[in-house]
Amino acid sequence: MKPERKHIYLIGFSGSGKSSVAKQLGAKLRCRSADMDAMIEKRFGMSIPEIFERYGERAFRDAETTILKIISRSRTRSVVATGGGCIEKSVNRRMMQKSGIVICLQCSMRELARRLHNSNDRPMLTRGESPISTMKILLSRRKPLYTQADMKISTSNLTIGEVTSRVVAQLRKCGYAD
Ligand code: S3P
Repeated sequence: MKPERKHIYLIGFSGSGKSSVAKQLGAKLRCRSADMDAMIEKRFGMSIPEIFERYGERAFRDAETTILKIISRSRTRSVVATGGGCIEKSVNRRMMQKSGIVICLQCSMRELARRLHNSNDRPMLTRGESPISTMKILLSRRKPLYTQADMKISTSNLTIGEVTSRVVAQLRKCGYAD
């Protein structure tokens, strides 16, 4: 394992499987898994929609950066499920790139729309005219940032287990897993 970049950050749009894959990957690699959204909810003692509603997106984004700072400086290796918008801030991208390997879980727009169909806990998607039009706007802003990832794994039509195995295979190839 390359010690200077020990953490594993999963990035990607909502619904790409970051949280579920992080749990399985952590178990497979025998290291801690961290879910940034869950950590922020714990810190505020409320759900993400409630944080957005009561304190605004800015407070959520500030908390995201604070949490990332804590994780990136930790000596314990973590597999990290980031929130879908975490990559938008350059300071966040720099922290991830410096302290770990960044893996983008990619998924077709069609499948994302299907997976997010009944989601009511993602305030970013309930803002615009429709969830689909908002997804399109967010994706067009974020796609260029996804290309900066060290690895890209397609998740369309794959189970969480299959995605995890693909990630492990890629990590082994690059010397990040035994
Ligand atoms: C967000 C995605 C969410 C969560 C928050 C903001 C975004 O995470 O961090 O609602 O900006 O796209 P998931 O990617 O886990 O849905």
